[in-house]
Amino acid sequence: METTQIIEKLDVTILEPGMKHPAIFKRFDNLEAGEAFIIHNDHDPKPLYYQLLGERGNTFKWEYLEEGPDVWEVKISKLTPQEGETVGEMVAKDYRKAQVFRKYGIDFCCGGKKTVKQVCHEKGIKQEELEQALSTADVAGKSREEAFDKWELAFLADYIVNVHHKYVQEAIPVLYEFTTKIARVHGSQHPELLEVAKHFANVASELEAHMPKEERVLFPYIKRLEEAQKNNVKLDSPAFGSIQNPINMMEMEHEQAGNELEAIRALTANYTLPADACATYTVTFKKLQEFEEDLFRHIHLENNILFPKALELEKGVLN
Ligand SMILES: [Fe+2]
Ligand SMILES: [Fe+2]
Repeated sequence: METTQIIEKLDVTILEPGMKHPAIFKRFDNLEAGEAFIIHNDHDPKPLYYQLLGERGNTFKWEYLEEGPDVWEVKISKLTPQEGETVGEMVAKDYRKAQVFRKYGIDFCCGGKKTVKQVCHEKGIKQEELEQALSTADVAGKSREEAFDKWELAFLADYIVNVHHKYVQEAIPVLYEFTTKIARVHGSQHPELLEVAKHFANVASELEAHMPKEERVLFPYIKRLEEAQKNNVKLDSPAFGSIQNPINMMEMEHEQAGNELEAIRALTANYTLPADACATYTVTFKKLQEFEEDLFRHIHLENNILFPKALELEKGVLN
């Protein structure tokens, strides 16, 4: 909400040159949604506008109060989440918000095409509470995650393969062994472990079939698109028609994988360990949670960043 309180004014002219932008960013990050501050300067701070836009996205309002020639004053307000913005778009802009959505059990990757208002309505969450939690996430420190949105697509695709596909490949045999073992040893006392093992086997085999499709077909095509755009050449339509087709298929498979993990979460009451849990039981639950976290981040990078950008790219490159 717009406040009637006195708005703090930051006199940038008295700051050391190297301190100006960090001080402004810090002040901005400490704002709650709806709050504002004023910067006072002796020249047009327009470069700051672009830096703020690049690093914080469309999360602020920029209003000139004085426009020179000697005094320049700009009121910078932090916007409340936009009505139409989806949770997936919000996470794409600022990955720190992912933690908040996860905490509230909100799916920001497979089901990320909904607005905050919609998910609050569906989950019975107070919208104000969620918005407050999201704005707090803004001050939780700038992280390297923000860079994903700025990377070249070829680099992002390689990152996904080297970090996330590699993780999945390494985690599958370990988790397959652990889930099978605890089902065998504890299944009579905790029959849900048999179901957990089945759901894990499902998600493992789905991902083992899914990732090679990305690595051999989709990601190389995205790299070709980016290359073509750089070299200003046009490409003929690929055998699969448009990139929308494999993307639809990948997104459907992501959703299936997400459903399997959601089933495991429900069966284990959010990974609550029983009193008689042994070391393997404990490690299995920890590792399954790690697997889920990694997969959510992995799918987020694909569904919310890589795929939408590749779709845009294709429009300008195909004959
Ligand atoms: Fe992937
Ligand atoms: Fe994928």
